[in-house]
Amino acid sequence: MRGLQGKTVIVTGGGGGIGGATCRRFAEAGAHVAVLDRDGEAAARVAQAIAAGGGRALALACDITDRASVDAALASAEAVLGPVAVLVNNAGWDVFRPFVETRPEEWERLIAINIVGALHMHHAVLPGMVARRAGAIVNIASDAARVGSSGEAVYAACKGGLVALSKTLAREHARHGIRVNVVCPGPTATALFEGYKQGAGNPEKLEEAFRRAVPMGRIGAPEDLPGAILFFASDDAAYVTGQVLSVSGGLTMVG
Ligand SMILES: NC(=O)c1ccc[n+]([C@@H]2O[C@H](COP(=O)([O-])OP(=O)(O)OC[C@H]3O[C@@H](n4cnc5c(N)ncnc54)[C@H](O)[C@@H]3O)[C@@H](O)[C@H]2O)c1
Repeated sequence: MRGLQGKTVIVTGGGGGIGGATCRRFAEAGAHVAVLDRDGEAAARVAQAIAAGGGRALALACDITDRASVDAALASAEAVLGPVAVLVNNAGWDVFRPFVETRPEEWERLIAINIVGALHMHHAVLPGMVARRAGAIVNIASDAARVGSSGEAVYAACKGGLVALSKTLAREHARHGIRVNVVCPGPTATALFEGYKQGAGNPEKLEEAFRRAVPMGRIGAPEDLPGAILFFASDDAAYVTGQVLSVSGGLTMVG
């Protein structure tokens, strides 16, 4: 993909399944990668693997729900790797529970990670992008945001909010040369999906149901996602903003 060589990229949740695969792919494209994760050890493992392969990466232990932590991480990333050209808001969390069985404390955690954290990241990074009149943001939502998903009401509400936020910021910042797009994974084999299946009480049955619902007949792999994410981040998407792309084996087909 064009235009990623030498660019500084921040990936939140970079120590996780989709985030780790995305960090590695950006490094392969020659980008300098800030691997941001609440789990500092997971971030360090991804950054070390990139460095061992000859790439440039920095691990940042950061909780995106805490604005002071976000500001400190951004300052460290820019001091070491230079101004941020690309932000990938990928950190997320989910739990399977029918809505009436959920508790407000659970909503607060879901909202803090899946929407407030993304707000902090946008709010921290955008002023620099506006000043430089350049930037690309890729937000990782979910097919749950597009068509709903039983057992994920609050998560789906947050991801739907992330889609609406992305379209609004795409409009506000197009004139500043900043593009904002969204990638929606479907069921993808990561720690998050494993926890979600366990929460449903019958993991094998749930996985089989998802597999049957996916026209391509398989659960996604983390490596299925970076292609779409890098496209939106790259100069090949220079005339693309405010768009939502599902990477889910055809699970949803939205016109
Ligand atoms: N796996 C799926 O089936 C699936 C489906 C649809 C959407 N998604 C979305 O894809 C994204 C990546 O998820 P994944 O499946 O790779 O999960 P994952 O659990 O492998 O990775 C998520 C990462 O986010 C980090 N994280 C969580 N809260 C954080 C916080 N407050 N601050 C900083 N880091 C934090 C975790 O430590 C973890 O490393 C998420 O936004 C998720 O909602 C995943």
